[in-house]
Amino acid sequence: MFDLVIDNARIYPLERDLSIRSDRSMAVTGGRIRAFGIPQSAPSRLRLDAHDAVILPGFVDCHTHAVFAGDRLDEYLARLEGADYAGQNRAGFGILSTVSATRRASFSELLDCSLKHVAPLVAEGVTTLEIKSGYGLDRESEIKILTVAAAMEPILKTRIVPTFMGAHTVPTGFTRASYLAWVQDEMLPLVVASGLARSVDIFVDPLAFTPEDLDSLFERAAAHSCRLHAHTDQLGHTGATRRAAHWRACSCDHLEYADQEDVTALAHSGTVAVLLPLAQAFLGTAQKPPVEALRQAGVPIAIASDLNPGTAPVASLLWAAATSIRLFGLTPTEALLGLTHHAARALDPDAGFGTLALGQSADFAIWDIPRPEFLLYAPAGQRPVMSFFQGERR
Ligand code: NIG
Ligand code: FE
Repeated sequence: MFDLVIDNARIYPLERDLSIRSDRSMAVTGGRIRAFGIPQSAPSRLRLDAHDAVILPGFVDCHTHAVFAGDRLDEYLARLEGADYAGQNRAGFGILSTVSATRRASFSELLDCSLKHVAPLVAEGVTTLEIKSGYGLDRESEIKILTVAAAMEPILKTRIVPTFMGAHTVPTGFTRASYLAWVQDEMLPLVVASGLARSVDIFVDPLAFTPEDLDSLFERAAAHSCRLHAHTDQLGHTGATRRAAHWRACSCDHLEYADQEDVTALAHSGTVAVLLPLAQAFLGTAQKPPVEALRQAGVPIAIASDLNPGTAPVASLLWAAATSIRLFGLTPTEALLGLTHHAARALDPDAGFGTLALGQSADFAIWDIPRPEFLLYAPAGQRPVMSFFQGERR
């Protein structure tokens, strides 16, 4: 007896490419995909007719900073008048303005506004959402952010993957070295022991941390069996991408200034390249990530929203994917794999979600569209007819 069978569907597993399955039905039991091509006689608790709609895996937004308070509208407007992002951060605004607002917010205020930030993502079929800390930068506030992130999972019926990003920037009152020591010696063990996160991220940039800091943090994080992620080569080339690859990071994110040597290192380590086209579009910078080199080297590419108040205030993974095609030259197949299979791999090589394959988590959405590429052609306001997380309708 199956829990659920969906009939008359056009099923796109997104395991390798955009090919469609020949079977037109899919069965779910215990939250997992159990069978395809189900005979009408097979017993099931619930049977749904998809009326020839498209079924895609639930989307995976593998890079967000969605738990924050306040906004950065004034800084955005100032940039339109010629101010620059790095200068704003050096002057104590930028990331640190959001840190002040997030520290001031109570747990319930932060939960409320964070739920609002991500509601459009969930509505467009995101069933897995990575959320980084990093707007707290003190013990109480980093824990508050990670606890808010965990509290969102049952409310949204969406898998939340929390990432500890204490190494986002250096807060006022610390040297870089003293702050990094606190992050890796005090906070990291605490976060891991309390089960608040099993993934770690660091912003390597002249505004934040160095490649040597990445080595130091990743050595500790690897000893705690954490999954490793890094913001690398976003605003200039630092060499951090190849360092992160050396540590077999799950993902390197941004990569605008990564060079051929970095790409080769990513290919050897199996690290996923996470591209964040909305951040580039909203910063208005010209440098583009080395997409052709990544493609030639066979590096898996994921696309994420980077949802944050400073550089990417746009809660739409479909806009991110559509933009990746026009701005970075991705193909529709690369963009759709980048929202699903490869985004799941960026979070965890053994994710168990992100494709429609036997044994995978039954996270999927039903779309009334002519074919999957339609979502990239007309991304605005697209909503699935239904979406399912672990086999349950949301
Ligand atoms: O991914 N690059 C660093 N972190 C964020 C931006 C954070 C902010 O400006 O608040 C990013 O773009
Ligand atoms: Fe980011």
